[in-house]
Amino acid sequence: MSTLDPAGLDLLEEALAVLDEGFARLPRLERRSERERWRAVLLEAAGRLRDNYPYHHPLYVGQMLKPPHPVARLAYALAMWLNPNNHALDGGRASSAMEREAVSALATMLGFDEHLGHLAGGGTMANFEALWVARELEPGRAIAASTQAHYTHARLCAVLGVPFVALPVDARGRLDVAALESALAGGGIGTVVATLGTTAAGAVDPLPEILELARRQGARVHVDAAYGGYFTLAENLESEARAAFDAIGGADSAVVDPHKHGLQPYGCGCVLFRDPGVGRIYRHDSPYTYFSSPELHLGEISLECSRAGAAAVALWTTQRLLPLERGGELALGLEAGREAALALHAALAADRRFAPLGAPELDIVVWAVRAPTASESSELARRLFEAAAARDLHLALATFPRAMAGAARPVLEWDRPEIRCLRACVMKPEHREWLAEILARLDAATSATLA
Ligand SMILES: Cc1ncc(COP(=O)(O)O)c(C=O)c1O
Repeated sequence: MSTLDPAGLDLLEEALAVLDEGFARLPRLERRSERERWRAVLLEAAGRLRDNYPYHHPLYVGQMLKPPHPVARLAYALAMWLNPNNHALDGGRASSAMEREAVSALATMLGFDEHLGHLAGGGTMANFEALWVARELEPGRAIAASTQAHYTHARLCAVLGVPFVALPVDARGRLDVAALESALAGGGIGTVVATLGTTAAGAVDPLPEILELARRQGARVHVDAAYGGYFTLAENLESEARAAFDAIGGADSAVVDPHKHGLQPYGCGCVLFRDPGVGRIYRHDSPYTYFSSPELHLGEISLECSRAGAAAVALWTTQRLLPLERGGELALGLEAGREAALALHAALAADRRFAPLGAPELDIVVWAVRAPTASESSELARRLFEAAAARDLHLALATFPRAMAGAARPVLEWDRPEIRCLRACVMKPEHREWLAEILARLDAATSATLA
């Protein structure tokens, strides 16, 4: 049996025939087939792609990588025969309408009654627009985020020329509310970024408290749920995480990445604003486009110009198959990954060789290797990472400050202020069934590393 699933390629031909019928009134086109030459370069490309980690396989638990749903792949490929551009209706009429419907479903999922939003190249571009709007609405005031927020926020603030304030986190990696309260008291912070699912540890910032404090001080709140956003559909969250996800609708803006947990090919982030009126900040004219219709062109509310209409077609099609609802197939897949993450955490906690850093709030598990010092533990983590990879078990490494790792007591002596840990993104529904195999390989790699 293959590890890559080619199922559905025949459906693509059928769907292409339907698409082609839509243009039947046009004169037929003669095409030269260069099959043999295509074959040669395509097989060469396939050969080159073998030099990758097996992202699609459950034994890959390294970074936040999840194979797109087969239907997303097929829909993306289908759209490629037209290659629509969702900058303007001139370039992508149907795909722009599909984007607006798909984005509207994402806004509803996150709890926005009204919204303005669109797809973007990814989480970075989506956050960039949210921080840019924040700067325009709060000129001269800083943007604050936790030290565990994605590094993109500090970088984007530098690009935008906005002061950035890094706030400490608590032992679980969540933004420290007391520190936020005193930082806000100074009056210089115009926007607070709450991360719902930090990249490194999957920590969920306490959004209800953040919203309350920010409102009291007249600051805006942006939610970076690039990785975690879809977990609002999961019914197996702990109460604090649940409360955070339930509060997103009260934030001023939010980002969610369909190319992380939404089963989409890369090139699919999404930014949403609660107040559709922020569209005025985007106002501009284009001498080349926007002529085909007085209706809204997505380029009028986006900083990027050309954008892949195919990304919208893939997302729309996936959401038709898997509606964004609690108890639905997509939600059950997230819950399965989270169950596997909890089971992995429990197994690590029962293993005297490891010191996990607290139970996962979503589906990322982080643990240190017990050793006399932080330096030795960090070195063992690196060696274990390699020993696991040699057994086709692909983990990741992440460094954490003592403030986050100290409570797990991984070492006797902190000879340096941080520690390198192992990290697993248990994001695939199949991980639940594969956990025993993952643990067996981890055990073998650990025995070899510590021998
Ligand atoms: C919380 C968070 N924000 C932003 C980003 C950046 O998103 P992208 O890599 O899609 O640009 C990531 C990526 O992992 C993330 O986890």
